[in-house]
Amino acid sequence: METKKRHSRVGIKKVVKQSWKPGNVLSPLPVVLVSCGGTRGWKPNLITIAWTGNVCSEPPMVSISVRPQRYSFEILQTTREFVINVPSVRQLKTTDWCGMVSGRKKNKFEEMKLTPAPALKVSAPIVQECPINIECRIQQSLNLGSHTMFVAEVVAVQVSTSLIDKKGRLRIEKGELMAYAHGQYFTLGRCIGDFGFSIRKRRKKPASGNR
Ligand SMILES: Cc1cc2nc3c(=O)[nH]c(=O)nc-3n(C[C@H](O)[C@H](O)[C@H](O)COP(=O)(O)O)c2cc1C
Repeated sequence: METKKRHSRVGIKKVVKQSWKPGNVLSPLPVVLVSCGGTRGWKPNLITIAWTGNVCSEPPMVSISVRPQRYSFEILQTTREFVINVPSVRQLKTTDWCGMVSGRKKNKFEEMKLTPAPALKVSAPIVQECPINIECRIQQSLNLGSHTMFVAEVVAVQVSTSLIDKKGRLRIEKGELMAYAHGQYFTLGRCIGDFGFSIRKRRKKPASGNR
């Protein structure tokens, strides 16, 4: 009886859950169009990536994880640069297609009628049609197993002017961005709170008599 008590989990309630084998169920994720090439003899190419994220604030850094079998992998290894183009729902079909077809066989910019526009700091082109373009320089490569994670510094950012309001603020909702979860694409829906709202004191409404 004594022993059982010592091993029992304190403060944890028993609930009914199904046990799944370990896997990549973390959701939702961004889904992005990574452009690379445009230098050292490589034509510009695109690869759809869901294994991506912010990994450091100062300096701003991101990561993308790429299988070595991808054509883009060879380009990334030699050029050490890429652009994360954040697509809007308007580029949904393009985003999926670029993740189904290899740049070894097709020119994805031409086939999808996308505009390769100049980046500010890297040789890889940005995708003009995507509302947000994040220019990156690779700092580290980590071979993790099936994927190699490229950790890269963000060296420039371009944002479509249609997302910026009169006061110069970024209105992210205007980008009509999307999410990827368990093999499916989703729209983002409406904003339901902002950073720190849970501890912010609500401003008292002036009593109607005081107006
Ligand atoms: C939604 C989606 C997400 C993907 N995420 C990744 C990823 O994170 N890493 C990766 O190596 N491949 C990923 N792929 C697969 C590549 O985009 C795909 O193999 C592509 O055709 C490679 O192009 P490339 O050979 O021109 O480089 C994803 C595909 C889709 C459709």
